[in-house]
Amino acid sequence: MAVKKGLFKTSVGRKNLMAITGLFIIFFLIIHLIGNLILVIPDSFFPIEFWGNVENAHDMYNAYSHFLVHFWPVTFVAWVLYASIIAHVVDALLITLQNNKSKGEKYQVTDKSTSAWYSRNMGLLGTVIGVFIVLHMTQFWLPYKVLNVEHDLYDLVTATFKVWWFVLIYEIAIIALGFHLVHGIESAHRSLGIYPKKVMNIIKYIALCFSLIMAILFAIIPIILYLK
Ligand code: HEM
Repeated sequence: MAVKKGLFKTSVGRKNLMAITGLFIIFFLIIHLIGNLILVIPDSFFPIEFWGNVENAHDMYNAYSHFLVHFWPVTFVAWVLYASIIAHVVDALLITLQNNKSKGEKYQVTDKSTSAWYSRNMGLLGTVIGVFIVLHMTQFWLPYKVLNVEHDLYDLVTATFKVWWFVLIYEIAIIALGFHLVHGIESAHRSLGIYPKKVMNIIKYIALCFSLIMAILFAIIPIILYLK
């Protein structure tokens, strides 16, 4: 019984773990987005005077990805990220199991008349994103970072987005991510602090704007690369 009451084993603890890991993943996503937006910088923007040999987006993206692999603090943060993703998924499964057992106390807002459809379908959205992450990491992370069989990440990514159905898969996953983020950010704040209704409304609004911007910026990358 004592173990059951341990940190992150209680319902509140699990919600907090979900919130903390979720917020860390969001931090990664912001950096990941900025890094990948290099892919769509127009050639007319170059040469960037202050940055040695960088003559186009191709050079800049490969310099960025080289830095990701060879700068140890980034490698350390990447391991924290993998652990956060795994903890987030396992925690989500445990919360769902717990909810199914005791119908009384639920993590998500379940009143169908007042909650948005995406709040009630976080599990489904999360599953879509989870399947996407497996595909995504198999495509890029595995050959580049782990197996070391691909050395030009720019060529690999741009070639991938010449295939229309990959673009489509990415767009579907990014839409799911957008909705998952809106409710996730709001929920994380609800879990981590008690805010007055007025503040919660502002957080809701910020969550909506942030998720929309993230989704739009992620979504334009495959489309621009497909059309380029
Ligand atoms: C369409 C835009 C995207 C592009 C072009 C892209 C590209 C890449 C590339 C090239 C890598 C391998 C190199 C690296 O570690 O950075 C990677 C890794 C990764 N991506 Fe993406 N990505 C995109 C969107 C996303 C989204 C929406 C997610 C999450 C839902 C995501 C999650 C990840 C994760 C978890 C890794 C492994 C990170 C690491 O090892 O540090 N990516 N991505």
